[in-house]
Amino acid sequence: MRCKSIAIDGPAGAGKSTLARQLAEKLGFLYVDTGAIYRTVALAVLRAGADPADPAQVIPLLEGLDVKMAYGEDGVQRMYLAGEDVSQAIREHRVSGLASKVSAIPEVRAFLLEFQRRQARENDVVMDGRDIGTVVLPHADVKIFLTAAPEARARRRLRELEQRGQEADFDTVLRDIRERDWQDEHRPIAPLKQAADAALLDTTNLNLEQSCDRLLSLVKEKIGL
Ligand code: DC
Repeated sequence: MRCKSIAIDGPAGAGKSTLARQLAEKLGFLYVDTGAIYRTVALAVLRAGADPADPAQVIPLLEGLDVKMAYGEDGVQRMYLAGEDVSQAIREHRVSGLASKVSAIPEVRAFLLEFQRRQARENDVVMDGRDIGTVVLPHADVKIFLTAAPEARARRRLRELEQRGQEADFDTVLRDIRERDWQDEHRPIAPLKQAADAALLDTTNLNLEQSCDRLLSLVKEKIGL
């Protein structure tokens, strides 16, 4: 039987990963965080001392790139770079901006396309990212575009960073979010945009529980699970 797939796209800080993870748990699907894959490539570029915005420096690195994804017994997705578990390292704030830069390079996106599609061929998935409903899984059973006002997203991201013990201030986080939105929305290939057949879920005025309930009912409406 064909595996089921749920695509969740949207800007940084809209709550995609938390909500997608909860949804996957509820449905018994695999949660695939595709941002983590781009972040791992960005970390590799950083470690190689290359400029993530320069295709001429990034493209030659792709061939030798050893990126792997695995799920622990706890069901949590972990990322490996040349065998090293980099799941924590890729969450550093500076990696976010770098990931956005490398993800604008068409060759990087092409390199990761099959990697992502394979997950959806082999498993029922909830996959989140920027171009899942538009490019990676255009035939996904359900497509959701999850968004929230930039200020709401900045507040959430700040809280997340603080919980991880990382220092940040609201204005910097908001500026970084706006900058990343702009980069992700304006890149020529696979820009962040709502798929024509995606349902819009704006979580600006919803808490986590309310967002999760809305998401679940949207999914149930679509595939009657
Ligand atoms: O979701 P995230 O913040 O972990 O993603 C990091 C960056 O990776 C994001 O700024 C854009 C890029 N990305 C992408 O281009 N396509 C995806 N499917 C997922 C992430």
